[in-house]
Formats: sequence, C-alpha cells, structure tokens
Amino acid sequence: MPLRFAPSILSADFANLERELGRIASADLVHVDVMDQHFVPNLTIGLPVLRRLAQVSPLPIDAHLMIEDPDRWAPAYADAGAASVTFHAEAAKAPVRLARELRREGVKVGVAINPGTPVASVVDLLGEIDMLLVMSVEPGFGGQTFIERTLAKVAQARALLETTGLAVDIQVDGGVDPTTVRGVADAGATVLVAGAAVFATPDPAAALANLRALATAQEAGR
Ligand code: DX5
Ligand code: ZN
Repeated sequence: MPLRFAPSILSADFANLERELGRIASADLVHVDVMDQHFVPNLTIGLPVLRRLAQVSPLPIDAHLMIEDPDRWAPAYADAGAASVTFHAEAAKAPVRLARELRREGVKVGVAINPGTPVASVVDLLGEIDMLLVMSVEPGFGGQTFIERTLAKVAQARALLETTGLAVDIQVDGGVDPTTVRGVADAGATVLVAGAAVFATPDPAAALANLRALATAQEAGR
C-alpha cells in the first residue's frame, strides 16, 4: 500500500479553514478530528462544519470520531460527505454492525484504538474495516509527545495483516513529526496523520514535503 499523508486541521486556523486546506494541497487526505467533550476532554468540529468542509475540500475528508455512541452518530458523518469515517473501538457498542452500516453508506471504515487498547481486541474486526487507527497519543489534543511503545502495536498489526492477507491500512495519529515519522513508516503504517508538525509551522506545504521525504527515505533504506 502506498504511504499516504493526512494532515490534521486540529492545529490549523479555525477562522480560515478553507484557506488552510489550500496550504496542504499536496496531501492525500484531510484528517478532521471530531471531539465531543465526553469521549475525550475537548470539543472541536461537528457535523455542520464537516459538511461544509467536504463541499469545499479538494481532498477527501478523513473523519476521526472521538465521540461516545458512534453507533448512533457515525453514519451522519458519512452522509455529510466524509470519504472515510473512523470510530473508536472503546466507544462502539456493536462495531461490526456499525462498520457494515458505514460501508453501505459508501465510505471507507476505520476503527481506532487508544494507546492502552490492545491490537488483540480488534482482531475480529479486521475483515470488516478498511483502516486500523493506532493512536500514538491519548486522544483529545494536538501537539502531544509521541508514545514510543505504540510502535510495537503498529508492527504487531502489520504482521497480523500480512498473515491474514487483508488489505487494511494502518493509520498512526499523534506526535508524528520529523523525529518520529521514519519509525512510524518503518513499523508498517500506511496513513500518517500530522497536525502540529504541519500546521504549527510557517510553511505547512514545506513541512508536509519534508515529512514525506523523511518517511520515503526510510522506506528506500529497507
Ligand atoms: C489527537 C487527534 C490528532 C491530532 C494530532 O487526539 O486525534 O489527530 O490532531 O495532532 P499532532 O500531530 O499535533 O499530535
Ligand atoms: Zn485524529
């Protein structure tokens, strides 16, 4: 699977989101962090904003739902125009049913696991999803420090997918920056999220190009 980059707009200028999208034109996806102040202690973007972003974004919207009761709320994000919808394994009551419902809506389906949630807990979901999101920070805020221990989970998930032959992307989200991006790509991630490392810099396009070069250099060195 090709390596793809999904900058997170969590660290972008919320007063100028359309303009901010223009600064990451070379990205593959736009990562939109939806937080409900219940599943995580922060409140960000909801349906009306995501719907409008989907209308103006030249890039597919990758919705990361850090919300309680995704069984109830996630399908609306598919309807709002997201290309992929990721819900948390810790929050879903009936993840297989929800994954199937989302696929019927025509979106790619992701399941996310927090740093303390084992890969083993989602093994039985892998045949139902398109992407496994391995959180490399506790969800809730941008700009946190990468938790190194999560790399072992990425490698474990990659090995598992290789034995099963399932075409599931592994996404890594949290603390991806020039110092961590190589390790993440090397562990087997195929979709890399970066918020602060892209948008909290003077030149997001250059920051993204730099991350891509660092990750690709690592791939070539394998
Ligand atoms: C954290 C969010 C991330 C966040 C990543 O809860 O899910 O997507 O924006 O931000 P950085 O790359 O700054 O850690
Ligand atoms: Zn995220």
